[in-house]
Amino acid sequence: MELHKFLLVLLLLTSTILVASGDTSVHESSIDHPRHHHHHRHRHHRHSHQYYVDQRNKKYGFDKLFVFGDSYADTGNIQKSLGNSWKPPYGITFPGKPAGRFSDGRVLTDYIAKYYGIKSPVAYRWIKYFPKKLRSGVNFAYGGTGVLDTLVPEPNMTTQIDFFQQLLDNKVYNKVDLQSALFLVSLAGNDYSAYIAKGGIAEGLPAFITSVIKQLGVNLKRLRSLGARKIAVTGLEPLGCLPVNTVQTSFQQCNATANTAVAFHNVLLNEAVSKLNIEIGYNACTVLDLFNSFTTVLMHKGDITGSLKFETPLKPCCMGISPTDRCGSVDENGKKLYVVCNDTNSAFFWDGVHPTQAGWHAVSLALKPVLDQIV
Ligand SMILES: *[C@@H]1O[C@H](CO)[C@@H](O)[C@H](O)[C@H]1NC(C)=O
Ligand SMILES: *[C@@H]1O[C@H](CO)[C@@H](O)[C@H](O)[C@H]1NC(C)=O
Ligand SMILES: *[C@@H]1O[C@H](CO)[C@@H](O)[C@H](O)[C@H]1NC(C)=O
Repeated sequence: MELHKFLLVLLLLTSTILVASGDTSVHESSIDHPRHHHHHRHRHHRHSHQYYVDQRNKKYGFDKLFVFGDSYADTGNIQKSLGNSWKPPYGITFPGKPAGRFSDGRVLTDYIAKYYGIKSPVAYRWIKYFPKKLRSGVNFAYGGTGVLDTLVPEPNMTTQIDFFQQLLDNKVYNKVDLQSALFLVSLAGNDYSAYIAKGGIAEGLPAFITSVIKQLGVNLKRLRSLGARKIAVTGLEPLGCLPVNTVQTSFQQCNATANTAVAFHNVLLNEAVSKLNIEIGYNACTVLDLFNSFTTVLMHKGDITGSLKFETPLKPCCMGISPTDRCGSVDENGKKLYVVCNDTNSAFFWDGVHPTQAGWHAVSLALKPVLDQIV
């Protein structure tokens, strides 16, 4: 029941969520979170590693990024009428105006691209206007979507992969191009909020989580069969720590009930990924553990190097004035129904669900060890 209500709140207050997962080892507990004990950190052989690095004469062997998923990764695909991401104050830090990103600035996609020295890939809806940008890959992620259909009428992950396949069919990319491409798959939780909104019951949630992971596994296999060599897939972030779920405690405490469900999702994800890698014969898929990376940053009230500080890490920068308003809401006269913090750099969360640019920066620093392994 609790889980229910929480997921519903999530849906109502936010137009989009994204997910990621990974092994959720957590060490302290100023933040309320579950522990779990699945550590499938397989060290697979990496005989091809040196080859790619040398061949490309770059720090990393990737020159393209293809992205699938939801608002944690979307850089401008969602329709303007459907996403708050196209309204002020989204985008105030970067690019300086709303541009479809669910943040004040850069999002996960941008940091992953930057890490590997790739330009952030063009959003799929814009490719006809920017054909030259295709050389850095394409971002097919749409805010609000899931692996299954959600309430947001945007392409689910299957359809996003269909778009990618069309580009292959049209010879925009060939198999050799894909050898030097990294694939990023974001699943941040929209399937779950949709499940609740459609009347799904708490008792059915474990089975539903299982079906979400199953479909995600189908998608990963399909990407692989289309030629993906390396895929990074997000583990689900601690949904119980998102501002929509901590507002009841004045942004003091994460909701442990929600995080328990997240842990279950992540256990299944890690198992699915390990199994897939064994089938494939090398470490094709890697989980980007957003549970652990978010939790680490929240507990440290900053990034691990100490350069970014988040004094009240659970409190979002941009908030609706009343519980029914959200970041970006305006009344019929265009009057703002939200407040924005003075320093976006000092907030981890931007709105009820999404990190700020600084937040994503801190998360990407926490992900560095795993990003280093993906070559
Ligand atoms: C967690 O969320 C549920 C549903 O919103 C709520 O009933 C419960 O009180 C919350 N738990 C805590 C510790 O805030
Ligand atoms: C994804 O969307 C397509 C097109 O609407 C639909 O036919 C398909 O059943 C959906 N796939 C899943 C797994 O929900
Ligand atoms: C921003 O700073 C001004 C002046 O320093 C202060 O009055 C105001 O309360 C601050 N606003 C927020 C949201 O922190």
